[in-house]
Amino acid sequence: MKSNPLKTRLASLQLENPTALASGILGYSTESLQRIAEAGAGAVVTKSVGLTPRMGYPNPTVVQASDGIINAMGLPNPGIAEYASEIRHTKNVIAIPLIVSVYGYTAEEYAQVAKTATAAGADAVELNVSCPHVKETGSEIGQNPTLLKDTVRKVKAATSKPVIVKLSPNVTDIVETAQAATTAGADALTATNTVRAIAINTETALPILSNTRGGLSGPAIKPIALRAVYDIHEQVNTPIIGCGGVTTWQDAVEFLLAGATAIQIGTAIAQQNPAVFTAINRGITAYLKKKKLGSVKEIVGQAHRH
Ligand SMILES: Cc1cc2nc3c(=O)[nH]c(=O)nc-3n(C[C@H](O)[C@H](O)[C@H](O)COP(=O)(O)O)c2cc1C
Repeated sequence: MKSNPLKTRLASLQLENPTALASGILGYSTESLQRIAEAGAGAVVTKSVGLTPRMGYPNPTVVQASDGIINAMGLPNPGIAEYASEIRHTKNVIAIPLIVSVYGYTAEEYAQVAKTATAAGADAVELNVSCPHVKETGSEIGQNPTLLKDTVRKVKAATSKPVIVKLSPNVTDIVETAQAATTAGADALTATNTVRAIAINTETALPILSNTRGGLSGPAIKPIALRAVYDIHEQVNTPIIGCGGVTTWQDAVEFLLAGATAIQIGTAIAQQNPAVFTAINRGITAYLKKKKLGSVKEIVGQAHRH
């Protein structure tokens, strides 16, 4: 039997293919995560969950931009105590790795949520230290290497599962935060979260989002995220998950060539549909065949050979 050329490994996670659902795009429910698994994703990441329930912001929370969307949802979530039973249920239903995205206001909170998520069955946790529109949660931690190291160390001590750190593009030097996360023991890095943005209504002469400011995602940010992956791969030896604007198989291959081991897809699912996973996986398979390569692992970081 021919081996699967898309099979790859991310820290200790075995993936059937290098695509994953990005955090926040289809929420938390077992049904929506199952839909993504059936659509061909290699892994799923849940929407970010915190220690206590949070309402999120009133509408409008999403606005269309050219070639992307700007969102400020405000991290609505049921809290980890409530969500733990859904994690257990999801684990019984899906066969692909379940990565639970975690946020907090302190390092201790991140650790507590990660511990509960792991006990409920999460295969890995992804730390959202990069939400650009909720004050004092992740983004401040993700922009401060000292706070980031402390948070990653405390989470590592609270779980035996891989700890993935989702980095913010809203920093002067993303390599510095990538290095801080790595020093503290991060098993993988996701690059990146959304880019700080705003939209203004010319009729009302006011910002459109209820939170005023938000984060831009979709094709508009792809070159920014791609450069983040390229720069991190050059300096840091931790597996990277590319995230930002992946819509076609060519986008996915660009991220792999830049140094990503896997990629996450968000806005393309919201704007198209989950069939994007199969389309991207087919495209990568055809690319490998055309290049006469047996495994997707062989193209990771290839753009650095010049
Ligand atoms: C509506 C929406 C909600 C999001 N919620 C979260 C979240 O809860 N946690 C998180 O880490 N990232 C969240 N993100 C960011 C995405 O996971 C991803 O990093 C970003 O959208 C870039 O990828 P994309 O261009 O493929 O969407 C959200 C993005 C969108 C559009």
